[in-house]
Amino acid sequence: MEIPLSKPDITEAERQAVLDVLASGRLSLGPYLERFERAVADYVKARHAVAVSSGTAGLHLSLIASGVEPGDHIITTPFSFVASANVILYVGAKPVFVDVEPDTGNISPEAVEEKIKDEYVRSDGNWVCWKDGRRLRGILPVHVFGHPCRMDEINEIARKYNLIIIEDACEAMGSLYFSKSQNRWLHAGTISRAGVFAFYPNKQITTGEGGVLVSDDEGIARLVRSLSNQGRDDMGTWLVHPRLGYNYRMDEMSAALGFVQMERIEEMRSKRRRVAALYNEILKEIEEIETPPEKPYAEVNPFVYVVKLRIPGRDELMNHLVSNGIGTRPYFTPIHLQPYYSERFGFRKGMFPVAESLGETCFALPFHNRLTEDEITYVAERIKKWLSTRKTTIRGTEDEKTKEAFETKPL
Ligand SMILES: Cc1ncc(COP(=O)(O)O)c(C=O)c1O
Repeated sequence: MEIPLSKPDITEAERQAVLDVLASGRLSLGPYLERFERAVADYVKARHAVAVSSGTAGLHLSLIASGVEPGDHIITTPFSFVASANVILYVGAKPVFVDVEPDTGNISPEAVEEKIKDEYVRSDGNWVCWKDGRRLRGILPVHVFGHPCRMDEINEIARKYNLIIIEDACEAMGSLYFSKSQNRWLHAGTISRAGVFAFYPNKQITTGEGGVLVSDDEGIARLVRSLSNQGRDDMGTWLVHPRLGYNYRMDEMSAALGFVQMERIEEMRSKRRRVAALYNEILKEIEEIETPPEKPYAEVNPFVYVVKLRIPGRDELMNHLVSNGIGTRPYFTPIHLQPYYSERFGFRKGMFPVAESLGETCFALPFHNRLTEDEITYVAERIKKWLSTRKTTIRGTEDEKTKEAFETKPL
């Protein structure tokens, strides 16, 4: 059996919408763009949505539009896709990593506050790093694998230390967070000043490539729209560019695809949740595998299905799965250990032990809307098969080793 890691859910309706665009001849800045933006804004209950060419582009522009300047510090997580820290470098600011929670893999609010208390001092209403004299400007939390961060705590820290927040919700379209402070459920990506979703084909909905910034702040939305469109003014005057802009526009075919996907988002969300629940049920009898959490304050629309191996041998198990036709991938290699980051900033192993431990023990199993119970059962059987050979090998040599292996909880 061959089971790919992910697969977009495209129906005749999406194909027809894209063909309509091609037939219309209006391939950019057409009616679908506005309809897609409105659909996203309405769904997540944000005032404004601006579609862009990728999640990375959306994050980059949100930092510029929030006034982040070269030299500023932004606190963020090392347990993420590399783009969430790269965008901080794009604007000349410095990513300041703090460690994550062992269960969700999300940035730890306690670690954020500890970092600020240890390394920043108050100066003229700002918090400034005593090491290099630079201003702490904001926090960029990432809702890892779709599970929302503890945003009440993060917002409280931002209020206390006068910081902006940009939510990287690239993996969290359709995930909900219960805010105790507001006593209601909110969409991930709308729990701060600005949030960004991404729509690569493995995401909850896809536009091929693409992203959307959402915000209740009209100023930010207008600025991001202008910046994404070569810095054109609000009137869209074609050859007037009051500011330095970029071409980060989403094309009309992508917007049409995204619009139809948004019409189907609830249907797709329940399918994803059903597949994840089925996995949880089938894998729960394998004690060496830890299934993904869903905290009481969260209702996750899963991006990927990432499990943790509680005993050593993750890479071996992944090789075993691949050789049985099962797509898998380690999630994530922490950003501080990516060659560019360790070479440029001198980050080393041991600096963020929780993120590193997750990076060594977590891996994604095949996950998409149409995954069947038979396929999930096959994945589970292959995992059990690997575990059984492993147990016999270890047990065959030394009983004590088996015990040790099972007691070595990475966290
Ligand atoms: C956490 C996170 N941030 C940012 C991005 C960047 O999105 P894109 O690939 O659309 O640029 C991704 C996409 O995979 C992501 O997972």
